[in-house]
Amino acid sequence: MNKTGSLIAVTLLAGGAFAGTAQADKLTLYCSAQEDWCQLMSRTFEETTGIKVNMTRKSSGETFAQIKAESSNPKGDVWWGGTGDPHLQAAEEGLTMSYMSPMRDQLHDWAISQAESADNKTIGIYSGALGYGYNTDLLAANGLSEPACWKDLLKPEYKGHVQMANPNSSGTAYTTLASMVQLFGEDEGFEFMKGLHANINQYTKSGSAPIKAAGRGENTIGIVFMHDAVKQAVNGFPIKVVAPCEGTGYEIGSMSIIDGARNEDEAKAFYDWALSADAQALALQVNAFQVPSNTAAPTSESAPDMSTIKLIDYDFTKYGSSSERKRLLQKWDEDVSTLPQ
Ligand code: F6P
Repeated sequence: MNKTGSLIAVTLLAGGAFAGTAQADKLTLYCSAQEDWCQLMSRTFEETTGIKVNMTRKSSGETFAQIKAESSNPKGDVWWGGTGDPHLQAAEEGLTMSYMSPMRDQLHDWAISQAESADNKTIGIYSGALGYGYNTDLLAANGLSEPACWKDLLKPEYKGHVQMANPNSSGTAYTTLASMVQLFGEDEGFEFMKGLHANINQYTKSGSAPIKAAGRGENTIGIVFMHDAVKQAVNGFPIKVVAPCEGTGYEIGSMSIIDGARNEDEAKAFYDWALSADAQALALQVNAFQVPSNTAAPTSESAPDMSTIKLIDYDFTKYGSSSERKRLLQKWDEDVSTLPQ
């Protein structure tokens, strides 16, 4: 039996607890979820299996670019977290490997669909809806009206008050761009992004940075996944979370094993563990309010209720394809980011 087989056997014997093995092996983890969640996952996996984890947190688009740049000599083993689109692009470009985890039957259909659309080179680990949040104190102090829709963000009164990430580095921001194209059609979607550009005070590298800045009182409105805005509110900051009135896109946060991983057995052990209900329940310890992909993992009462949000039928196959992602990013670079503000 190989190392993965023995790890799973230990797991099954221990009743699903992924209890300790004598492994002193290592794993290089590229993480694109929240930094504190990345750290907790690494630490707990290390304690559970004895496998030493070397983790780096980078945004989804950045991690994709890194894995691509390293493809002739891969340094990472697992890419955990981050929006699904660049994971799908990595699968299409042969940067990640197929793997059928024995944990698959514990997952929601949406997590498996993500895998099936990519030759099982990726899989869904959580989902979350896009929206925005605003600092209620700053809004009031500046005499601004309360936004409720995407198109509200185009009002001249919000000039300099809106922040989002750069869609090249950030999966959140790419999801925003792709959602506007799907919600309004390509021409109107790009007109929206151009209008928004006039009100943007800064394009950050990381997707959640705009709402963290709003929490600190350094920015008024942050376009982010709603769960990232909820986290700021739960942490006690004056943040109101908005599910935009026109409807919105969402992510299937994903996980992939890097093709040519040096520590393939450890990568598979992490992958199986990360799909377990116990591992996914760790999210609650760090106020990560995404919806978990394991049907038995708990969801916090504070998490945005996806069933009450008007979600578009996000076309992951199209917007996670290499050609479409490249095309939209190039068009945004050329037609939007270069406009004067
Ligand atoms: O902060 C958590 C999160 O919003 C995840 O839900 C998402 O997959 C990831 O961040 C995206 O981060 P980025 O936009 O920096 O790529």
